[in-house]
Amino acid sequence: MNQDPKRFTITAALPYTNGPVHIGHLAGVYVPADIYARFQRLQGKDVAFVCGSDEHGVPITIKAKKEGITPQEVVDKYHAIIKKSFEDFGITFDNYSRTSAKIHHDTASEFFKKLYDEGKFMEEVTEQLYDEEANQFLADRFIVGTCPKCGNEESYGDQCENCGTSHNATDLINPKSAITGATPTLKETKHWFLPLDQYEPFLKEWILKEHKKDWKTNVYGQCKSWIDDGLRPRAVTRDLDWGIPVPVDGAEGKVLYVWFDAPIGYISATKEWAEREGKDWEPYWKNDDTKLLHFIGKDNIVFHCIIFPSMLKADGSYIMPDNVPANEFLNLEGNKISTSKNWAVWLHEYLEEFPNQQDVLRYVLTANAPETKDNDFTWADFQQRNNSELVAIFGNFINRVMVLTHKYYNGVVPKPSAFSEIDEQTLKELKAYPAVIESSIERYRFREAQGELMNVARLGNKYLADEEPWKTIKTDEARTQTVMYVALQIATALAVLSEPFLPFTSNRLKNMLNFEGLETVPNWKSIRQMVPPSGEMPLGKGGHTINESELLFSKIEDEQMQQQLDKLQASKAMNEAANKKAEPQKETIQFDDFTKLDMRVGTIIEAEKMPKTKKLLVLKVDTGIDVRTIVSGIAESFTPEEIVGKQVTVLVNLAPRPLRGVESQGMILMTENAEGKLVFVNPASEGVTNGSQIN
Ligand code: MF3
Ligand code: ZN
Repeated sequence: MNQDPKRFTITAALPYTNGPVHIGHLAGVYVPADIYARFQRLQGKDVAFVCGSDEHGVPITIKAKKEGITPQEVVDKYHAIIKKSFEDFGITFDNYSRTSAKIHHDTASEFFKKLYDEGKFMEEVTEQLYDEEANQFLADRFIVGTCPKCGNEESYGDQCENCGTSHNATDLINPKSAITGATPTLKETKHWFLPLDQYEPFLKEWILKEHKKDWKTNVYGQCKSWIDDGLRPRAVTRDLDWGIPVPVDGAEGKVLYVWFDAPIGYISATKEWAEREGKDWEPYWKNDDTKLLHFIGKDNIVFHCIIFPSMLKADGSYIMPDNVPANEFLNLEGNKISTSKNWAVWLHEYLEEFPNQQDVLRYVLTANAPETKDNDFTWADFQQRNNSELVAIFGNFINRVMVLTHKYYNGVVPKPSAFSEIDEQTLKELKAYPAVIESSIERYRFREAQGELMNVARLGNKYLADEEPWKTIKTDEARTQTVMYVALQIATALAVLSEPFLPFTSNRLKNMLNFEGLETVPNWKSIRQMVPPSGEMPLGKGGHTINESELLFSKIEDEQMQQQLDKLQASKAMNEAANKKAEPQKETIQFDDFTKLDMRVGTIIEAEKMPKTKKLLVLKVDTGIDVRTIVSGIAESFTPEEIVGKQVTVLVNLAPRPLRGVESQGMILMTENAEGKLVFVNPASEGVTNGSQIN
């Protein structure tokens, strides 16, 4: 690849539109893609950064069925939420499209049609599971049955979520349709296959030879193992009623496989953007002078490195991606992020709880990005990085520079006099940072790049701490002016260099430094090409007036973190409750059996621990009939103090029995909550008097 391409086509995986987006999405795909795109634009490059909602596929139809709405309603809802989250976090897509858009249906149909007409597909009739009651073929996710490996009775057709094995739907024991519950039959159906085996020589040459060195090892390794295993023809159509109809005769009731249409979404999104901007889309996909990059998560590697390139190759008019910088996964507090289990930090919720703190999350996710291995997001790390990096290093430096400039010079950049060796050395170091950051970004090492950005702030802090303008102001005015002049140049560099990583902060800082009021607005180049100490300098040579200062970052307190942890704990409890299997129902009883039970509302009026036991409390309960003693095994769940005064349900006609020498005259009804803690079965409503019967 040409080292200085004319243009960049940057794609970010189209998110599935069956839920909102969370921190895992942002860390793995969208923040790194955005850093890269912003960086290239800052270099004056021609960039098309495209994405959109992936709106087809079986999970969306399942979600629609569950909620009793149409698939279109599902995607309309989440498309809006997702699009807004990306905007809110400053992800600068040139176009965020969607695969239900007409332009995409047209583009994907034409793509298929061309390959079909040129005989690039194989047609094959296979037997698939069919639901006779619903009159439809069953996608893997619509088949449940017993896992042949572990015996889980609710395994899906393609994968068992209990033991993780993948299998064929026809391997399931006792398969059932998830739609009607019917036992599926086998029925013949015709599909179109892309013969991936025919592209093996091309893939070997292109990936295994050309990209051995420059692709990430995780990406290269996955590709190599797929290719070494031998590639097989892959079906590109499905029997389904949600998706893009297969545009050929004799394909009624069939749609394009979601993984065939979705990556074509990158092309449709580019077309849509080009039309809007009055540009030609083709160079962005067909010209050798274009650098095409796919930002994705690791579960998407085979689709972007093997299947989509084979599709593009089959067409013949497209360029290949220059790189596919896939990330590993981000976990959350030690567990896999899961949409269905609500184990996630949702972007739209984060912004409600941390308004205007997009950059803090962007920063933490980049600092801890799963670039080479899975990583864990914890709130403790989030707080620590905010408080001791953003606040204490970046924020602190800027704050000192701004406050002192206003205090000493009424906000006017002072003119320097003689430069010391330290000044010259510091500015020389500063000037080197753009190249250092560039080199990391060009190698897709975003956490390293951001680390270098923080080193610029560290340089500033160290400089101020060593030169102590707050001391020299009393003794040496000229020296103080020079020091503040140098510090302001460092602040200027921070404003510019932080833009790809912390765009909101960068903007605020540019406003504070009044970039608008400068004759030439500082940019990446002006930092790279400044001539320190006395030549061209990004903030000019003194005399420029800056604006009022504001705090860029603020400390995050423990309570806020505890709230987040509590929220996660609540999700966990909800899940456990939802997963808890109810005990099977007991044998039937007659009404007479029930009326034998005498249950009353009562109030606990005294409680104390039974000496020498762990579990037992001795209670005095007012049952409305009398006040009696009941021994209850609840001491591990309650202290005596917290239950005195509680209204409870009591079985009063249980034969008395002695427990540790105390006669217990009844039983208090209890159940267990999701965390296994005992809780009282409370009388249904307030205002019930003791002695009321339960029937
Ligand atoms: N929707 C897929 C996912 O979230 C990604 C699709 S990427 C595309 O895993 F290339 F197909 F668009
Ligand atoms: Zn299993």
